[in-house]
Amino acid sequence: MKPIYLDHAATTPMHPAVLEAMTPYFTDVFGNPSSVHSFGRLAHRALNEARERVAAALGCEARQWIWTSGGTESDNLAILGTVAASEGKQHIITSQVEHHAVLYACRYLERQGCEVTYLPVDETGRVDPLDVEQAIRPDTALISIMYGNNEVGTLQPIREIGEIARASGIPFHSDAVQALGLEPVDLSRLPVDLVSFSAHKIEGPKGVGGLYCSPRIRIAPQSFGGSQERKRRAGTENVAGAVGFAAAVERAVARVEHNQMRMNELRRTMIDVWSRELGPQDYVINGHPQFTLSHILNVSFPGVSTETLLMNLDLEGIAAASGSACTSGALEVSHVLQAMKLPSSVTHSAVRFSFGSGNLVEDVEWAASRTAAIVLRMHKK
Ligand SMILES: Cc1ncc(COP(=O)(O)O)c(C=O)c1O
Repeated sequence: MKPIYLDHAATTPMHPAVLEAMTPYFTDVFGNPSSVHSFGRLAHRALNEARERVAAALGCEARQWIWTSGGTESDNLAILGTVAASEGKQHIITSQVEHHAVLYACRYLERQGCEVTYLPVDETGRVDPLDVEQAIRPDTALISIMYGNNEVGTLQPIREIGEIARASGIPFHSDAVQALGLEPVDLSRLPVDLVSFSAHKIEGPKGVGGLYCSPRIRIAPQSFGGSQERKRRAGTENVAGAVGFAAAVERAVARVEHNQMRMNELRRTMIDVWSRELGPQDYVINGHPQFTLSHILNVSFPGVSTETLLMNLDLEGIAAASGSACTSGALEVSHVLQAMKLPSSVTHSAVRFSFGSGNLVEDVEWAASRTAAIVLRMHKK
């Protein structure tokens, strides 16, 4: 049996069409887009064409798009940049289930004297918009709530939160790194001011992403040097990466409905196998049953530790993940599952399966069945 990759929330293989689109920009069109000669002008044109294509796919204007090195930098720039430009406002509202690119940027700002409200979530991982409203203060500089969670898939009530932010005149940032390609993200219709994206989650290259920044928002640059990206992000742009991102985002946006349908089928297939092969007490699906990203399936098998299960899956050639960070060889319990206040039997046995376009129903059926066999074997020990 060939290995099965079920960790697309971590990263995806690049689509061959994306690679093909990028290739000339490593070799033929290699100029620095800031150079004034013909080589530079060609690269500059390619970069701006990619910007136009991304903007058209996402429903924004090209000048509202800032190229970055990926989701982490986009999150950092949105948070640090907005607070730095906020003229003394020192309070941020975020949630306990954000990606570390958001949480650690907030922690950094706390050390600089800011105050951060980390909103709780319910047992499905959702933020209550009322909590957002109640947390707002006269000195709130930014609200940052993710679009869809990377560990459990839960979608946040972005529209409601955005409307609250708009009514209070507070900039609203959302990390849509996992949502892109799985949810219809139309920036012209969403009440958001800053949105983070990354190419490698949508069959694009690693090391490139972007930040949508509405014209109403002021951000202070967080890297210093050249005046690229309208002085908002210094550094020579990744031209091939930008072209790859444009190709990937066009594919992703055109396939949202198809992707949702396929991923839901894969999700259902795995759950059906477990319902046949395991007892109802042997597995628990984490996250929201309805408001969820379709490509993420977080499941706990109480009584079998995450580490044991991941190791045994790996031996079978099945690549899955724990949502949590692996530091010094030991798995930390996920901050997301902890925020959902799930019992420790659930937080200590959680595994994330995440699907991509290359996965077939029969592959995930086999993977689910092998997972069930491992769980039953561990119960007998
Ligand atoms: C929700 C979310 N935000 C941000 C990131 C970071 O993106 P990148 O790997 O492009 O820095 C990830 C990647 O795991 C993510 O899932």
